Amino acid sequence: MFFDEPEAFKATRPHYGSFKGCRNYFAIVGPSDEKEKAGYFGEELVLYAQSIGLNTCWVALTFEKRKVKIKASEDSSLYLVISLGYGENEGNAHRSKTPEKVSNISENSPEWFKNGVKAALLAPTAINQQKYYIEQTGNREVSARALAGPYSELDLGIVKYHFEAGAGRENFSWKE
Ligand SMILES: Cc1cc2nc3c(=O)[nH]c(=O)nc-3n(C[C@H](O)[C@H](O)[C@H](O)COP(=O)(O)O)c2cc1C
Repeated sequence: MFFDEPEAFKATRPHYGSFKGCRNYFAIVGPSDEKEKAGYFGEELVLYAQSIGLNTCWVALTFEKRKVKIKASEDSSLYLVISLGYGENEGNAHRSKTPEKVSNISENSPEWFKNGVKAALLAPTAINQQKYYIEQTGNREVSARALAGPYSELDLGIVKYHFEAGAGRENFSWKE
């Protein structure tokens, strides 16, 4: 975790993803085959921060990676960062895919599955791509997979965290 470190968010970019005054951030570090876990546990931090009145943003591209003082080792490196602070506002609602587009939901789906998909659709994803598919595969069994897209495996961890929070972890298990 970096506090009062202004360098990583110094550069401003004209369009997407320019940050003002961001000096605090989480650095998400791990082995390269654990992208889904990075998303899952990173989102736990994000939702906790939000619950205590802070704002965050996942940032994979629009920061200065080489300014983050993390030593990459043989088995782990810096994936991305999560900015942390007080936003100028709480953000705006964005365009979203429909439940039918991202899952096999139907009017007969149980309430917990519907709630899970609803929460998953609120998950942040890289460039708002929402490239995933969630399927109820059994009475209380669900599978979720990433579709092709930049950072979609990491997105999947974020989405699964949201699905669990919405559906209730006691109501289902993930199909491996
Ligand atoms: C893995 C990941 C990488 C992201 N990278 C960037 C980034 O480099 N710059 C940026 O401004 N936003 C980035 N975002 C934020 C997304 O663009 C944003 O979450 C998405 O468009 C939905 O917007 P919302 O979270 O405000 O609803 C990233 C989000 C995720 C999940």
